[in-house]
Amino acid sequence: MVYGYEPVQPIPKNIKYNREKAELGKLLFHDPLLSRDNKTSCSFCHDLYNKCGTDHRPVSVGFHNKKGKVNASTVFNAVFNFRLFWNGSVKNLKEQVSIPIQNPDEMNMTIKEVEDRLNKHPLYRKKFKKIYGADRINFDMVADAIAEFEKALITPNSKFDKYLRGETQLSKEELDGYKLFKKLGCISCHNGINLGGNSFQKVGVIKEYPWSPDNPDRYQITKREFDKNVYRVPILRNIDCTYPYFHDGSIKTLEEAVQVMAYYNLGFKLREDELRKIIAFLKTLRGDLPEILKGE
Ligand code: HEC
Ligand code: HEC
Repeated sequence: MVYGYEPVQPIPKNIKYNREKAELGKLLFHDPLLSRDNKTSCSFCHDLYNKCGTDHRPVSVGFHNKKGKVNASTVFNAVFNFRLFWNGSVKNLKEQVSIPIQNPDEMNMTIKEVEDRLNKHPLYRKKFKKIYGADRINFDMVADAIAEFEKALITPNSKFDKYLRGETQLSKEELDGYKLFKKLGCISCHNGINLGGNSFQKVGVIKEYPWSPDNPDRYQITKREFDKNVYRVPILRNIDCTYPYFHDGSIKTLEEAVQVMAYYNLGFKLREDELRKIIAFLKTLRGDLPEILKGE
């Protein structure tokens, strides 16, 4: 086992969650009934089976094809993040649920309308009654079930995690890539279990990165100059599958994202071979499909 000494920890093979609640949350997550147009389920923007919990759009499209301003983050492994959203404004999974539901550009509902619709639905009434023991469904239960499902959305057993646990070797190129990732300083921001998701950092530390008032950055919350272009560091788990990149989805390929990072945050352009190695390393971060999604 090598990870005791490493700045990255493997995703646990299992995580504790309430299976019954999570199965109910899974139904709700995929149900467009939670949206005004009966078309925009959570899974509309977070495709779990084909897009690693994202939508592969630069910015999301929701109610009546309205474009949002930001790129959809993956819901995979979000349970490990210290805060949620690009600007870290949300504390945990349960608190997050009501936000897209009420956002006029996303699902465009009210809490009461969601409750009313679900309470008219015999199957949901039966399920909520069984699990929460209540005759009337309230939104807190809805958020609780969806959050429980999201807990289960972990992607363990990536090649890199197996390497950390001493179960497999990396190829020379992948290992060189990991060494470069540490040596060049990517690791100072992208570390921990998700290689990100555990601190606020700036894009443009060395060279100034263009800023726009639409940016979902810390500045939106604090209005302090130094918080411009400061984000919760995005996670790098399954990163080859969560394109396009950056808060506004403006970066199409992983190669470009890594070069932009090196240039603005480290101050130089990577050589071709360095880039190739880092990409090879990043591709080892693809994990298994979450257990709760298998067997259908
Ligand atoms: C119209 C598209 C859309 C819909 C529908 C949608 N989301 Fe999202 N989701 C996004 C976008 C965009 C973000 C990034 C928001 C931000 O960071 O400001 C996001 C972020 C998240 C995050 C935070 C991940 C992280 O690590 O920061 C979670 C969790 C999440 N969504 C869960 C849900 C759930 C649960 C639903 C259904 C109740 C839902 N989403 C519906 C687009 C959508
Ligand atoms: C000073 C902290 C810091 C350093 C150092 C750093 N990053 Fe980042 N990284 C960030 C932040 C913040 C973002 C979000 C940028 C944005 O969306 O505007 C990001 C975004 C990314 C993304 C895109 C993620 C996504 O989902 O959109 C990748 C890939 C990435 N970094 C890889 C790297 C690599 C490889 C290195 C080293 C060459 C590196 N980073 C160095 C903070 C850092």
